[in-house]
Amino acid sequence: MRIYQEADYEAMSRRAANLISAEVIRRPDCVLGLATGSTPIGTYKQLTVWNQRGDFSFKEVRTVNLDEYKGLPPTHDQSYRYFMQTNFFDHIDIDVANTYVPDGLAADPDAECARYDELVRSLGYADLQLLGLGRNGHIGFNEPCGSYVKETHVVDLTQSTIDANARFFASADDVPRQALTMGIGCIMAARRVLLIASGADKADAVYNAFCGPITPACPASILQLHNDMVLVGDKAALSKLVAAGVAVCG
Ligand code: F6R
Repeated sequence: MRIYQEADYEAMSRRAANLISAEVIRRPDCVLGLATGSTPIGTYKQLTVWNQRGDFSFKEVRTVNLDEYKGLPPTHDQSYRYFMQTNFFDHIDIDVANTYVPDGLAADPDAECARYDELVRSLGYADLQLLGLGRNGHIGFNEPCGSYVKETHVVDLTQSTIDANARFFASADDVPRQALTMGIGCIMAARRVLLIASGADKADAVYNAFCGPITPACPASILQLHNDMVLVGDKAALSKLVAAGVAVCG
């Protein structure tokens, strides 16, 4: 595992964008696994600047997003499809037909999960999977629980996730209670995993994920078993890891 410690959010975003653009330059038709949330916004902004400058192209890139709220249409300003369009896809030269997000409105959510799993499999899984990290250690919407779920599935969001995401909605009552999420199997099948974390409120989750026991009670801890795992964090997010003596670059 390689860990990059960056000074702040901006430097973290730049480093993550650097690693993603290297993948796109090396393999122009790569499959990128993408995340939403506040952490990757700076990464998408930096990639957009370099793409618009003509440094590389997303024309042949395919993307698979981790998750979507159940019940939100793609036009809802808190849906993850909307997030991806407005924070990234609308500003780069990607073919939107090659971008995939689970359908939160599917009449049969379980069938949609099975379809999505098959889609990701048929694309050959992600060459690079970008992840954020929940304060409770979740990745995608794989919440802390008793056992890992391999496949894409419908999940009940924990109160901690509802509270954390309430900042994006008018009130906590408006946060959907369920989501469709890629399972741990798809995430671990990615050839490279790039997890980004920023801020002191992620320090415990980062420490538990990478220094604690491997357990579904901290879903991200399974990433310790991935053979090409890159963690990029700012000083605040990595503070407990560094205090524990874990070696970092930068
Ligand atoms: C989003 C996702 C989530 C977030 C996590 C961190 O697609 O899968 O796991 O990455 O909740 O969110 P932020 O970045 O808002 O702290």
